[in-house]
Amino acid sequence: MLTNFPKTYQLQNDKLLLPKKEFVTYTLYALIAVALLYLFVDPAAPASSTKPSVAAPWIQEELPPPSPPPSYQGGERSRSSPQPQAVSSAATPCDYSDGEWVPDPRPPPYNGTACEAIKDGRSCMANGRADTGYLHWRWQPRRCDLPDFSPEAFLRWLRNRHMAFVGDSLARNQAESLMCLLSSWSPAELVHREEDGRFRRWVFREHNATVSIFWSPFLVKGAEKSEHAGVRYNELYLDEFDERWMSELGAIDAAVVSAGQWFRIPSIYHDGGRVVGCYGCAAELNHTETSFFAVFRDVVRRTLAEVARRHEHGGKLVALTTFSPSHFEGEWNKGAPCTKTRPYKKGEKGLGYTETEMRKIVVEEAANAAGAASSSSSTVRFAAVDVTTLANMRPDGHPGPYMRKNPFAAADGRPVQNDCLHWCMPGPVDTFNQILLQTILR
Ligand SMILES: *[C@@H]1O[C@H](CO)[C@@H](O)[C@H](O)[C@H]1NC(C)=O
Ligand SMILES: *[C@@H]1O[C@H](CO)[C@@H](O)[C@H](O)[C@H]1NC(C)=O
Ligand SMILES: *[C@@H]1O[C@H](CO)[C@@H](O)[C@H](O)[C@H]1NC(C)=O
Repeated sequence: MLTNFPKTYQLQNDKLLLPKKEFVTYTLYALIAVALLYLFVDPAAPASSTKPSVAAPWIQEELPPPSPPPSYQGGERSRSSPQPQAVSSAATPCDYSDGEWVPDPRPPPYNGTACEAIKDGRSCMANGRADTGYLHWRWQPRRCDLPDFSPEAFLRWLRNRHMAFVGDSLARNQAESLMCLLSSWSPAELVHREEDGRFRRWVFREHNATVSIFWSPFLVKGAEKSEHAGVRYNELYLDEFDERWMSELGAIDAAVVSAGQWFRIPSIYHDGGRVVGCYGCAAELNHTETSFFAVFRDVVRRTLAEVARRHEHGGKLVALTTFSPSHFEGEWNKGAPCTKTRPYKKGEKGLGYTETEMRKIVVEEAANAAGAASSSSSTVRFAAVDVTTLANMRPDGHPGPYMRKNPFAAADGRPVQNDCLHWCMPGPVDTFNQILLQTILR
């Protein structure tokens, strides 16, 4: 499939209306983010000579196979505090994306120390994070209420169904949160695991319900970080799909797609068998510099169109989680921490440029796909799970140094690496699944 790629992207680049100087600054930021992502978004990266020099021990962490988890404070959560009053009419769907974090004295929905699905790096409490204030906030949408997560309702829906999380390590973060939320109610069995946990599948035997994780940071076919002239570039094949998940969709009832961070890493774009552009490339490579926003939009659009084409009558749900912001206070590779212990108040911190654009692309493309599906005979349902703003307001919800045990002792005087990108569990990422539940029930 040949397309006029470079032209499309240049046009879209023009639309960004960035003055040259700002563009250069912006590119610098992007390159910093890129290096960061090598460390954080790829916890299973094999060791190699081109690895960033900062030690990233958590990439070696192994996940022990889970045993059935104990239930944790079973109905206490709903007993100890009344349900918020409904303020919206049932007719208009609630906009959960706009709101604020309000204090919530109730215990968190599960015991993060006991949840076996959590990759070690996000088990903040088990790793020694002592402050617990971040556990006691609830997302309050502006015009309506977001019901508490109900594992019972979720598993009722999931009975005889299979939900797959597809994407990068934030997709995995959300999947693990869901596993903790559900397995506090009903035991789950890990039935499949490969590539260091990048592909996993659990079954809730009592419900014949399946949850799985598919690693696919580009959604389309891609290769991570091959080297060109001393620089590591991702290779993306924009007209080929990542069949590791795409070909499995026939047996999947709901796909939760979450990607974006990897698009900020220098990448070479292939389409129709040739290179059509590049992001963050050295000039010597002679590739047309393109906007990763345009590429991300194109990838999301092509992916959703392909799902719609292959599964027109499958009655599937495809939910797209919007971009999840990070909160490094400074340069990530110089030990920049995330020191805040409270959420931002409403209006205190708006979205940055990248967050705004990446969110918008997912919201718009999900709406376009939904529109196209409803105007045809298709039974595929597309929806955005719009978490960017609520996540942006949670600088306190990241592991920070507590992505591994006893971080300060282990660092032995060297700067401690912080993870201000992923989310502690329990933590704000549980709210992603609270909204996901309302999305599937809608
Ligand atoms: C959480 O789980 C751990 C490990 O199973 C246990 O030691 C701890 O007491 C639990 N905490 C609560 C509040 O139940
Ligand atoms: C169990 O769930 C799967 C979907 O994950 C479904 O295909 C299968 O039919 C279900 N089995 C029964 C006995 O309903
Ligand atoms: C890039 O273009 C220059 C000038 O045309 C050429 O000398 C060089 O070999 C090209 N580099 C690559 C990697 O193709």
